[in-house]
Amino acid sequence: MSYLIAANWKMNKTVGETLEYLDIFLPSIKDLKSVEIMIAPPFTALSSASIKIDAYKRENEVNIKLGAQNMYYVEKGAFTGEISPIMLNELNVDYVIIGHSERRHIFGERDDLINKKMISAVESGLRPILCIGETIEEREQGKTLSVVERQLRNGLSGIEKDLPFIDIAYEPVWAIGTGVNATPEQAQEVHLFVRSLINELSKGNDSKTRILYGGSVNDKNARDLIKEKNVDGFLVGSASLDPEKFYKIITETLEV
Ligand code: 13P
Repeated sequence: MSYLIAANWKMNKTVGETLEYLDIFLPSIKDLKSVEIMIAPPFTALSSASIKIDAYKRENEVNIKLGAQNMYYVEKGAFTGEISPIMLNELNVDYVIIGHSERRHIFGERDDLINKKMISAVESGLRPILCIGETIEEREQGKTLSVVERQLRNGLSGIEKDLPFIDIAYEPVWAIGTGVNATPEQAQEVHLFVRSLINELSKGNDSKTRILYGGSVNDKNARDLIKEKNVDGFLVGSASLDPEKFYKIITETLEV
């Protein structure tokens, strides 16, 4: 599997700003075929981004996919403010980020809801990226691996056989938006644990499941992190908002 370098823009960029970004970014990645790139803009910009990327792909070979930052697990109905998998499919969205720590901690999403979203995403043909990660208190109490294990087992409950169609993102909460990334050794320790757990859950059928790292990834630390054996890509927040910085992170991973 090629590395996946994914951009999570969170609640940033209008439609206009998204199109300006893609004008710069798409030509820059034309020759980068060996890595898969994903961009997850806010819902409001998905449609314009999708049209722009599809038009660009008709003329050029670029390995870029579109992602959503969240979704609800029901196809349609009285769920004010929510977006369904059918709506994402219509926009040619390939990936959906599920259980991001901001969804868990700011919006109160729990493992059982996250599991329903994971099941729905897989059934809808979207490739979910399940986000897991401990808080600083949990790390200091030595609970990192048990938290990650609980989030993984619960998030993947009932869809263990679908692990080849799922990616995982380890994003320690204390590293998100803080400028303090996990060291390569800290990332590797958790990624190795995640790899063995998904190997067990999938009965060895996990070779297509990538384990991404997220949390203050930038063009300075990307190379050291990607060198770790079980780091299969990145989920990048703030450093993905600038097309040149994001491009730099991608090229850093190519030179390893
Ligand atoms: P930062 O890269 O801004 O730390 O955000 C990481 C993240 O949450 C990606 O999903």
